[in-house]
Amino acid sequence: MGQEKIIIALDGNSSCGKSTYAKLIAAELGYSYIDTGAMYRAVTLAAMDAGLFTDTDAPPYSRIESLLGPMELNLKHNPDKQRTEIFLNGRMVEDLIRGMDVSAHVSYIAAISAVRRLMVEYQRMLGIEKGVVMDGRDIGTVVFPDAAIKIFLTASVEVRAGRRYRELIEKGMAANFSDVQQNLEKRDRIDSNRADSPLKMADDAILLDNSEMTLEEQMTWFRKLYQEVRSGADEKD
Ligand code: DC
Repeated sequence: MGQEKIIIALDGNSSCGKSTYAKLIAAELGYSYIDTGAMYRAVTLAAMDAGLFTDTDAPPYSRIESLLGPMELNLKHNPDKQRTEIFLNGRMVEDLIRGMDVSAHVSYIAAISAVRRLMVEYQRMLGIEKGVVMDGRDIGTVVFPDAAIKIFLTASVEVRAGRRYRELIEKGMAANFSDVQQNLEKRDRIDSNRADSPLKMADDAILLDNSEMTLEEQMTWFRKLYQEVRSGADEKD
């Protein structure tokens, strides 16, 4: 029984390397990787395209709700690029949603309960057969409170800003280090203080601060945790 597929929830602050880590874990276990932040980013792009943001403040809820009704979100694996891509109303928006403009608006959209209800429903459906590594902010607390492994990843804000800045530059996107750091701090503040599903560590999650860790060290840490959880499950079986 011990090798039944499980759900791995990976939550944490913005830009602490969750998606890189989650992808590696998923590849090692032969699981699928689901990036829930991409879903909130795609809804944000839809709201921006519809002209719902006049400045960086939250757009009117009623207009967001009418946007959600006809909206279609799909995740599809692209075998050529070896990645999962997100489609918004049939358009591939994987690259568009990563820019600073979407990052500057996404926390407002992610604070809206109507948006969260819809996203959580979709995420639970994607995890129904287990065998997934899902990263986000509320996976261990709200989406899958019974996940067999819950990791809460964090790193210092300077380290996170440096990583995010390099990522943007490598992708050829315009970026300024202090803007990136301010955006991260602001997103953490909004994500942690919102009323609905705020970013917080689940009581039974395990904290990992990766500020000073390489990816290989993080994988070694994960393998040990995975073995412990698996052997605990075998003893119970
Ligand atoms: O992980 P990310 O930076 O792509 O996430 C984008 C935003 O979406 C982030 O500011 C917080 C929000 N988010 C959320 O509220 N809940 C999730 N499960 C995932 C992301």
